[in-house]
Amino acid sequence: MDGNLLNDIEKVVDADRAHVWHHLIQHQPFQTGAPKIIVEGKGMRVWDQHGKEHIDAVSGGVWTVNVGYGRERIANAIRDQLIKLPYFAGSAGSIPGAMFSEKLISKMPGMSRVYFTNSGSEANEKAFKMVRQIAHKRYGGKKYKILYRERDYHGSTIGTMSAGGQDERNAQYGPFAPGFVRVPHCLEYRAQWDLTGEEYGIAAANAIEEVILAEGPDTVGALCLEPVTAGGGVITPPEGYWPRVQEICRKYDILLHIDEVVCGVGRTGTHWFGYQHYGVEPDFVTMAKGVASGYAAIACCVTNEKVFDMFKDDIEDPLNYFRDISTFGGCTAGPAAALENVAIIEEEGLLENTTKMGDYMMDQLNALADKHAVIGQVRGKGLFLGAELVSDRASKEPVPEKQAQAVVADCMAQGTIIGVTNRSIPGFNNTLCFSPALISTKDDIDQIVASVDEALGRVFG
Ligand SMILES: Cc1ncc(COP(=O)(O)O)c(C=O)c1O
Repeated sequence: MDGNLLNDIEKVVDADRAHVWHHLIQHQPFQTGAPKIIVEGKGMRVWDQHGKEHIDAVSGGVWTVNVGYGRERIANAIRDQLIKLPYFAGSAGSIPGAMFSEKLISKMPGMSRVYFTNSGSEANEKAFKMVRQIAHKRYGGKKYKILYRERDYHGSTIGTMSAGGQDERNAQYGPFAPGFVRVPHCLEYRAQWDLTGEEYGIAAANAIEEVILAEGPDTVGALCLEPVTAGGGVITPPEGYWPRVQEICRKYDILLHIDEVVCGVGRTGTHWFGYQHYGVEPDFVTMAKGVASGYAAIACCVTNEKVFDMFKDDIEDPLNYFRDISTFGGCTAGPAAALENVAIIEEEGLLENTTKMGDYMMDQLNALADKHAVIGQVRGKGLFLGAELVSDRASKEPVPEKQAQAVVADCMAQGTIIGVTNRSIPGFNNTLCFSPALISTKDDIDQIVASVDEALGRVFG
């Protein structure tokens, strides 16, 4: 680390303690201890204010820095673009905006239009607004309801929290917007039906149909789902789930909105998007975190042409287009960075690496489960994995949240940054989360898993 910076680091820590309101954290401990300041990153590793090296098993904490730290070619592309043109409102086009849209759509057969925004929450809000406007334009305002799933998360705004399936995230922030309706989760490990495999998947999808029928199909405009639920417990869908979900949406003329904020742009391996593993044909796909690996803020709400066409059929009607703007959706750094990000994933074969290393990490975590009875189940796809911790395998009683957090803290002390579901589902913040960068090697994964092994040994004896 830069020597001058190290000398000045106490000033930085003081300024941070005095003025920064950190995200998603209780600040009382900072009255006596210092917050962690991450100073520098390279590849899979970051260094904190003490110069201590950490391996980052969560890509910037929240599934974001997918191509790893220190990518000069992304920084250079952003710099060149900023000097040429940093910004112009999104009512006009930009060179990187057009070129990235073309590139992105080439990875998403069936989709055709990209609406630029700058956070995952905002991208989801755009889709919700489009659904509402379609309801007004096509269905006399009646088909306005948006279904969302228990345990899924779609953002931090009041609108997206209205579609929030995580009660602990939502607590104390209501009242929420009307017209959002919850459907059951599909986590077979926490089964709601006495079935297994494909039969379970179909039952979980049929539970969505039951909600639609109870609400009235002519009132339901869209269904919004994560392809693999992230912060709600890393939930891979059971066999049979997605085909039935798609069938139900078609049957009742319900638009399908897939939230790829975590899964998108390579995280799940082999395919560019999570939904592509399951043959899903969405109407909306939203994405954010991995789009430019955090080098610039960019998010996208992508639609198919059927949706887009509904917003331009009558030029005489002053309300007949999507009357929405995202000021910073016009920043050109985002698409410039995203173009380089995709090029890196292509040139370095990172979709393939993610599949290979994801399978390896799954095997290693399952081997840990053989050794530590506290691991109830390992789930995930690609380099997007979770290990649910239970006090008792038979009853599946979740471990107390403090113990799960102690595992994370022990790993941190070893120089390994892992995650845990956090203030998500009351009583079920017990799933360790892993999402190392798509550049991970076997050695990186061995180091991460060895830390978890040691931590589990220490916390659970
Ligand atoms: C699935 C999912 N959707 C949406 C969001 C919200 O994204 P942002 O924090 O960029 O608003 C998140 C954030 O973690 C997420 O996990």
